[in-house]
Amino acid sequence: MTALHDYFGQLYRQDDPFGYRQRWYEARKRDLLLASLPRQRFARGWELGCSNGELTAALAPRCDELLATDVSARAVELARQRTGMHAHVQVGCATHPQQWPRGRFDLIVFGEVGYYLQPAQLAECARRMQASLEDEGVIVACHWLHPFEPAQGDGRQVHASLQDTLQLPRLFRYEDADFLLEGWGTSPQSVAQRENLR
Ligand SMILES: C[S@@+](CC[C@H](N)C(=O)[O-])C[C@H]1O[C@@H](n2cnc3c(N)ncnc32)[C@H](O)[C@@H]1O
Repeated sequence: MTALHDYFGQLYRQDDPFGYRQRWYEARKRDLLLASLPRQRFARGWELGCSNGELTAALAPRCDELLATDVSARAVELARQRTGMHAHVQVGCATHPQQWPRGRFDLIVFGEVGYYLQPAQLAECARRMQASLEDEGVIVACHWLHPFEPAQGDGRQVHASLQDTLQLPRLFRYEDADFLLEGWGTSPQSVAQRENLR
């Protein structure tokens, strides 16, 4: 049992330790993330660090297949309950970057997980996410900007590390007083171009 397993094991004695089901702050952030996705639908999505599955459930209608993973067995159980009505969603227990799913994805969501990783693990996650990305796929990251325990750094440091490590153009960026939301990918066409607006 690592310190990470121990920390999240304690935390998931509650079913919704981050208030994803209660807080309008979280609902708004989820809506912004969903609105930022540059495609209406994705063939194969993956959410790393899915917690109790609230964001997973919101991503499900946008994906033909969706994988969600978390280090905490209890979080996985909660996410399975939350997404049980979606046969195309698979939830599994995994510690990243040490464990990694097979195949490639056209959507990878890395939300509020980067600061629990050591800097070398974060860089490894970034390299492996890029290697797991389909051509024209998108990696989306979203992180809280303020320091907290047991974070290794704040969201700005997480996103700076992603920006340094990913060899991909940034597609979009949203920042407010509390969080940073960014996406990277190689799509040669903008959303407007795909919709024949230009
Ligand atoms: C703050 S929640 C994020 C939930 C969701 N992604 C979102 O943005 O709303 C972070 C989750 O990441 C998981 N986690 C932390 N480190 C992890 C790792 N190395 N591998 C897999 N999951 C991890 C935790 O168990 C926790 O449930």
